Amino acid sequence: MKALILSGGKGTRLRPLTHTMAKQLVPVAGKPILGYVLDHIAEAEIRDVGVIISPETGEEVRRYLGTGRRWGVKIKYILQEEPLGLAHAVVTARDFLGESNFVMYLGDNLLRYGVKGARKRFETERPDALIYLKEVDNPKQFGVAELKKDGSIKRLIEKPSRPPSNLALVGVYIFSNRIHEAIARIKPSRRGELEITDAIQELINMGYTVKSEILDGWWLDTGKKDDLLQANTIVLDEYITTSIKGRVDAASDIVGRVDIMSGTKIKNSRLRGPIKIGRNTVIENSFIGPYTSIGEGVEIRDSVIEHAVILDNAVIQGIERLEDSLIGRGARVVKNRSQHKAYRLMIGDDTVVEV
Ligand code: DAU
Repeated sequence: MKALILSGGKGTRLRPLTHTMAKQLVPVAGKPILGYVLDHIAEAEIRDVGVIISPETGEEVRRYLGTGRRWGVKIKYILQEEPLGLAHAVVTARDFLGESNFVMYLGDNLLRYGVKGARKRFETERPDALIYLKEVDNPKQFGVAELKKDGSIKRLIEKPSRPPSNLALVGVYIFSNRIHEAIARIKPSRRGELEITDAIQELINMGYTVKSEILDGWWLDTGKKDDLLQANTIVLDEYITTSIKGRVDAASDIVGRVDIMSGTKIKNSRLRGPIKIGRNTVIENSFIGPYTSIGEGVEIRDSVIEHAVILDNAVIQGIERLEDSLIGRGARVVKNRSQHKAYRLMIGDDTVVEV
């Protein structure tokens, strides 16, 4: 069994963060989403891993994943010149995949449980595809399955304007080599992409076995904007345990589960977990409330922050209350102390400011 991780694409939905960063590297509870994906691949004891990268963000993805040694896997990077669809990515990886069965894992999907159970089921039952489904509120944004009365799949449609159900296809699939035959028979969709959903439908049309299962545990497609703060909340809730490697002075007070990495200093501040704080950050005269993730090299002074994601090297100073917010790398949010009351903004493309 091999694994193919899709980490190409354009990431338009997470702009402005993804103007400068691969969407699969956006951190959730302090760790890039791809890190969780690799954890799941390693846990399923898959060693041969292909990673689809794009010309724009490939280097950054390589820098983070490296050879894969950190996870005990061997990574081969596969350049997809243009994001022409999930099935096109499989065609691009054809040499790497050979005739192997493989797990295909979309690099922006985050799952509560990994793929270990799925691998076991696939190897016992030997279908040509095993897919996961999950009920969602907004099925128009996903691939959608219509089931027969006996629970088997009737048909699959990508981003339907009139969804026949609210069962979305999760971004994790296992395929036999027959998927290549099916992909060779499909045409690009209306949005101009070779859709993996259409290829799975083609497997069904060809009379091959496609099995499905309703996914246990939460699933987040972090490529869809609102899910990022939610993903952060869920992952902090689930995974954070108290670990204090930084320095907390006697005037500070910590309650709940808080993970503070080394080199970080907490001075005269109150922290209420769950919170994750990266390395070499300074927090001074501030209150940090639950469900907040703070990156590396961040400076927070004289501020109150809750339910927020603050990325590396951001500066927040004199802000009375910052909530439900996503602050990009190196961004500065600073109170203007002069008598002249005015907002002075330097804001990147596609940014949202609510004052
Ligand atoms: O998240 C689940 C959904 O993922 C499924 O329900 C849909 O059926 C499936 O088509 C897919 O839809 P998205 O519109 O969310 O896919 P997106 O374009 O965001 O791409 C998913 C990942 O694959 C993302 O990490 C980027 C990467 N990618 C995408 C394309 C189109 C590539 O590596 N190459 C590509 O050509």
